[in-house]
Order: sequence, then C-alpha cells, then structure tokens
Amino acid sequence: MKTIQKHSGKQNVNRRDFLAKSAVLGAGLASASAVFAYGQEPQQLQEGLKPAPAVPRRKLGSLEVSAIGLGCMSMTSGSYNPPRSKEEMIPVIRGAVDLGVTFFDTAEVYGPFTDEELVGEALAPVRDQVVIASKFGFDLGGGRRGGRNSRPEHIRQAVEGMLGRLQTDRIDLLYLHRLDPNVPVEEVAGTVGELIKEGKARHFGLSEVAPATIRRAHAEYPVTALQSEYSIIQRALENQVLDTCEELDIGFVPWGPVCRGFLGDKFNEFSRFSDDARFSSVPYFTPEAILAHMEVLKIVRKWGRLKEATPAQISLAWLLAQKPFIVPIPGTTKLHRVRENMGALSVSFTGAELKAFRSEIEQVELVGVRSPESALVDQ
Ligand SMILES: NC(=O)c1ccc[n+]([C@@H]2O[C@H](COP(=O)([O-])OP(=O)(O)OC[C@H]3O[C@@H](n4cnc5c(N)ncnc54)[C@H](OP(=O)(O)O)[C@@H]3O)[C@@H](O)[C@H]2O)c1
Repeated sequence: MKTIQKHSGKQNVNRRDFLAKSAVLGAGLASASAVFAYGQEPQQLQEGLKPAPAVPRRKLGSLEVSAIGLGCMSMTSGSYNPPRSKEEMIPVIRGAVDLGVTFFDTAEVYGPFTDEELVGEALAPVRDQVVIASKFGFDLGGGRRGGRNSRPEHIRQAVEGMLGRLQTDRIDLLYLHRLDPNVPVEEVAGTVGELIKEGKARHFGLSEVAPATIRRAHAEYPVTALQSEYSIIQRALENQVLDTCEELDIGFVPWGPVCRGFLGDKFNEFSRFSDDARFSSVPYFTPEAILAHMEVLKIVRKWGRLKEATPAQISLAWLLAQKPFIVPIPGTTKLHRVRENMGALSVSFTGAELKAFRSEIEQVELVGVRSPESALVDQ
C-alpha cells in the first residue's frame, strides 16, 4: 500500500485513512490536493480530467466497479433539492472520477431525461474508464412520468433514447426500474438479453423485486445486480433478498444508503417538510418517525466517535460490511460529500463489532419503514 507523509510530517498514514481523515476533520483540502497527495503525477487526461486513484473495487456478478458508486438522481430530478444546473453538477461528477469513483447511477425517469443528459456529458471524456448504470420501465411521453411500461418494443425505444442522452454506444448496466405487472419478467429479461447480444447493453439489472421474481428473471437471462432500498434504518430486504443474491452470484446495489440524508446527520428531531417536498411523502420522515430514528442516529454517531468517522461514513461502511457483493451508491449534489462518502472505504468492523452494532439498532423501534414481508413482494 502506498503511503503518504501526514502534514505533521511525523507519521505515515495509508491513502484510505487519509481520505477518511480529510473528510472527518473537514480539512479543507481541495479535491485536487486530496488526489495528488498520494504522490500521483498531476498528468492531465482528456479535457483536463485527472487520473483516478486506485480505490477498492467490488464485483457485481462479473461487473467490476468502485466499491462505492455515485447516485446522480438528486442532481436534476428535484427529488430532495431543486434541480441543479449542469454547470454546477458536471464538476461534482468529474470530481468523483478524480476521487476514484467508477460507478455512476442514473435513470431515464430522473428529470425525466435530464439526469441522463447530465451524466452522459460529464462522463463522455472518460467513457471507457467508467461504468454507467441506467434504468427503463416507465412511460415518459410528453416528458412526464406515466405508468409502468416494459413491453419489448418500449424497452427498445427507451434504450435508443438512453444511448443518445448518455452519449454512448452501450449501457454498462441496464436495469428494469419497476416491474410492469402486464409483462412477465421473463419477457423483459429476454429483451434485455437481445440488447446485450446486439452490444447496446452489457449487463442486466433489476430493481425492487422479490426473490421469486429475481429467480425467474435470472433463469431467462443472468442478472448482474439488484438495486433496492437498504440502509441501517430500512432493512426489510434482509428477509431473503440478500440471501437470494448471494446464492445466484448477483451483486446488490443499495439505494438510499444514507437514508436520504438522515444517516448523514442532515436533519434533526425538529426537521419538518412542506407538502410539496418529496420527503413529506416518505413514511419514515414523519415527525414521529424522525423522533424515533434519532435513537438510531445516536448509535451511528457513537460508532463514529469510536472509529473517527462521520455518521455517513459509518452508515456506508456498515452496508459494505454486510456482504462483499454490496456496492452502495450514495447520492449527493456536493463534491465534499463524495469525498466524505468515499472515506467510508477506510472504516472497517470486526465480527464482534458488527454483532454489537446490530443488537443496538435492533433495540430501536422503527417507524414508517417497510415490513420484512414487503421484501417478498414486487414493489
Ligand atoms: N432503484 C430505485 O428505485 C432508486 C430509488 C431512489 C434512488 N435511486 C438511486 O440511488 C441513489 C442514492 O439514493 P438516494 O439519493 O435516494 O438516497 P441517499 O443516497 O441515501 O441520500 C441522498 C441524500 O443524502 C444526502 N447526503 C449524501 N451524502 C451525505 C453525507 N455524507 N452527509 C450528509 N448528507 C448526505 C444528499 O444531500 P446533498 O445533496 O445535500 O449532499 C442527498 O439529498 C440515487 O441518487 C439514485 O441514483 C434508485
């Protein structure tokens, strides 16, 4: 492992510790200095992008990605904040590349379309060095989110649009976003399989489906990854879903890994959301739920003090520690948070610590979260 000289000059720390520490201490380091501090030559890549440092990788099936990816949804979708401009967000995505992120998540429904346009433009200069994941599954006629639609002709049409917006000739990981009750999952798997044979996609993914559906799809065409909500607070899919992925060698990509900001200590017991904010429709953001989950946050903060890590880092490290095929994709609009989140890769837990952590969080009565039984039903 490469080492760098700490700024005190007294001690050597490894690169990953440095990443974590720079986030924890809010050391005010610009992203370039955080990267170059590892002794890399500040060579310019195409269009001024710097070479990515080597961060740990993980496998989603046969697809290798950085062990933490970047969720790009909130950059343009208006989900958790007003849509941000390309001018603001392209530097965040390219800064993530500089920090070693190789896995980027978007969907045609985010915006709709604007998120793919952003991701495509931001990553075009490094297209061959990164993995782009996107999702189809909704009618988006007139630029509005309509019902679910996974008919084969619709998937093909959607993929043509996605390729154009992403400025690419192939989508590395093509997910079915939500199951269409009118189209058997085998038919979706078969269509994606054909697109893969044609070179328009490389891997097939599913989102928010039950173990039985994963098995049916996988029997038709191998599934590389499942993307569903999973965090220290939202743990329903520990009921059989992770086990199914493990058995079938399917990677797992948790969305909402910092519980939409809550586990990043972004809110407090007095946080309230207006009716037009997405949070107001999330059952675990009611005043009662927030109050109950402050107890979880206290546990996360306590582990943070023990490990010299931020709550978001603890939350991501906890997910990473659950299974080696888990790759969280925290979403953010801020480069300093990408750096903080990547710092989670230097936080580890022993088996005994994980056991203690779990017994602590299991004592908190959660409010507004999914039931374990919900994991057995397609969402
Ligand atoms: N498959 C699906 O159905 C599905 C559904 C939802 C999302 N997704 C994907 O999953 C990705 C991640 O999920 P998500 O965005 O819903 O939830 P998330 O990653 O748990 O939370 C995102 C929110 O957390 C905040 N945040 C991130 N890092 C933080 C940190 N270190 N400290 C404090 N706050 C932090 C961000 O705010 P700031 O911008 O202020 O940093 C953002 O508003 C999305 O971007 C999207 O690509 C997929």
